[in-house]
Amino acid sequence: MEIKGTNTTLRCAEPMKTNQRIVVFPLPFQGHINPMLQLANILHTQGFKITIIHTEYNSPIPSNYPHFIFKSIKDSFSEIADELSICTYPTYFVEYLNKSCVDPFKECLARLLTESDTDLVACVITDAGFYFTQSVLDDLKIPRMVLNTSSLGSILAYDALPFYSKKDCFNLTKEDSNFEAQVPAYPLLKYKDMVKITTDPQSMGDYVSNLHNTMKASSGIIWNTFKELEQLEQETISQHLPVPHFTLGPFNKYFPASSSSLIQQDRTIMSWLDTKPPKSTIYVSFGSVAHISEAEFKQVANVLANNGLPFLWVVRPGMVHGTKWIESLPENFLEGLGERGRVVKWSPQQEVLAHPATGCFWTHNGWNSTLESVCEGVPMICSPKYVDQPINARYVTDVWKIGVMLENGFEWNEMEMAIKRVMMDKEGDEMRERISCLKNKLNISLDEGGSSKESLNDLVHYISSL
Ligand code: UDX
Repeated sequence: MEIKGTNTTLRCAEPMKTNQRIVVFPLPFQGHINPMLQLANILHTQGFKITIIHTEYNSPIPSNYPHFIFKSIKDSFSEIADELSICTYPTYFVEYLNKSCVDPFKECLARLLTESDTDLVACVITDAGFYFTQSVLDDLKIPRMVLNTSSLGSILAYDALPFYSKKDCFNLTKEDSNFEAQVPAYPLLKYKDMVKITTDPQSMGDYVSNLHNTMKASSGIIWNTFKELEQLEQETISQHLPVPHFTLGPFNKYFPASSSSLIQQDRTIMSWLDTKPPKSTIYVSFGSVAHISEAEFKQVANVLANNGLPFLWVVRPGMVHGTKWIESLPENFLEGLGERGRVVKWSPQQEVLAHPATGCFWTHNGWNSTLESVCEGVPMICSPKYVDQPINARYVTDVWKIGVMLENGFEWNEMEMAIKRVMMDKEGDEMRERISCLKNKLNISLDEGGSSKESLNDLVHYISSL
């Protein structure tokens, strides 16, 4: 059986005939919905029937998935989501959902179990962030598998960071002598990265501890990564969390994410990209939840306008604090660019990254974006904002050496230098070579006998035997 992906074809074994059903429950954010629906598609091709339980907030579009059953639950989330910024209170949002979804999830599952009399529910796969589900499923004696949508490295780093014991370290400022120093518990990180990960160590510590305990109690963990990228991290995590681990990523190489996009993608830019020379264009996107200040927005705009290279910039409505969209751009900014630059509300990101004209990705280093960039061999400029992003960014710049970090936020000279280093200097060519090498390893991992392909086979057999 052949499944077409964005730019690759993965061969899957003929699906088994099974009457087993898998129920999946994603966290309602774009960076979590995409990998969960990709995973559901992958498992469907392996013969499993799929039911998606989802919140009303950020509901996926059922008509894009006629082969799945969708069950919506009330979450009473929209009211607080509109009032608070997820960027400022990420762990509060997840904690809220873990309380508000308990009863609706239980009721939905109970109904589903009585309805689906001919199908055996083999397991429920929930996002790691829905940690409340572990005890619910334990009570019902249904195996819970976890999808962790972050990197292995970021989960390892969370486990090492002293959220409770060294709270002060999360509030350091530039003036503190330790700000640039390495964190002894996880030397890849600097204290200034810890400041970005969270400003509320107590809440983040509680989140991490809930995540850890319920992953440990689960029947197994599925990661959207591949062995060759995070082998050491995988070995260490297997000791911390002694349950079966499956690394069958990157999921987006099996299926494109566009059908799970919550925002309409502007496809007109693909023909615009066709007019640009190979590796000439800077793609800028800070993902689905990160925000920037108006001053930062104007700085980025000026740098992009002044450096002369073509660019494609995704500015989500509401991404810039205090504005609706791009009204704070200087007058005639877009007209002045002519055909050189485009600003859009949302892009078909995987296709943009796969386009030959794309030369670098200026990213917030959400894990999906980071992995998608590796998939297409595009080096990165890193502007991480919070939670796992500063950790992913350190792996990109200091471990895999496939990108440049903006160490001081949106500082003019540093932004100009970073673009030059990646787009024009020999250093950028070397990054391109290293990321091409990772891309090759990744493609091999998805082939017959490759690590991701083997892990998928293991997962299918494991779920069938639960
Ligand atoms: C959030 C967190 O910020 C991130 O750190 C965590 O790893 C996952 O959840 P998000 O901000 O949504 O992630 O970023 P990311 O993980 O990169 O996911 C964004 C997804 O939206 C990607 O799959 C990307 O392809 C897609 N996207 C982004 C588009 O389709 N179009 C765009 O214009 C921008």
